[in-house]
Amino acid sequence: MAKQVATNITWHEGAVSRAERQRNLGQKGVTVWMTGLPASGKSTIAVALEQVLIQRNKHAYVLDGDNVRHGLNKDLGFSAEDRAENIRRIGEVAKLFADSGLIVITSFISPYVSDRDLARKLHDDAGVPFLEVYVEVPLAVAEKRDPKGLYKKARAGQIKGFTGIDDPYEPPPKPELVVATDRLSEGESVRKVLGLLEERGLLNPS
Ligand code: ADX
Repeated sequence: MAKQVATNITWHEGAVSRAERQRNLGQKGVTVWMTGLPASGKSTIAVALEQVLIQRNKHAYVLDGDNVRHGLNKDLGFSAEDRAENIRRIGEVAKLFADSGLIVITSFISPYVSDRDLARKLHDDAGVPFLEVYVEVPLAVAEKRDPKGLYKKARAGQIKGFTGIDDPYEPPPKPELVVATDRLSEGESVRKVLGLLEERGLLNPS
């Protein structure tokens, strides 16, 4: 947990309520947190879901691990500490975006339960919905897909600490949704997440 360093700072309340923002946007803010092994299908589902939501006139935005590591988190690697900081920052950013009324879809391996629980707590404390989606796939299937050739490199010892090979992945004990991408098509996976958003009333303002 990052410690508070700055002192003499005071929270400044805004004049616009969350309900007003939601009415304007015709939806509720939420973070859909996708977690899973490399090549489980997180980013594929995230991108397709974002597209469907935009086509339905909803405001959605993907925060993707590989992309965020090119900018905001370019100073972080893949040690347990750096992964924790990666997830903490994204948890904070996602919470702010979702508080503004956006449907945020995050796509990060986020291998540790404790880091994901912290991201959830940030949302809970702010009263912002957080839905954890476990993009589940057997390691053998992910390794066979290997779209970026990284499993192969990890097996050859060219990448150290690769998730699933010589670094852990802790599945969520109680995710809001499990999407098994070895059994579902991309379209079916997207529909499952959409169904969850609908069921929770998040695609309507009230
Ligand atoms: S996380 O573990 O901190 O959540 P994140 O989702 O941001 O990871 O980044 C994962 C991406 O980084 C993978 O899709 C892969 O392309 C790349 N990557 C590079 N090295 C590693 C590694 N050692 N373990 C996992 N992913 C890695």
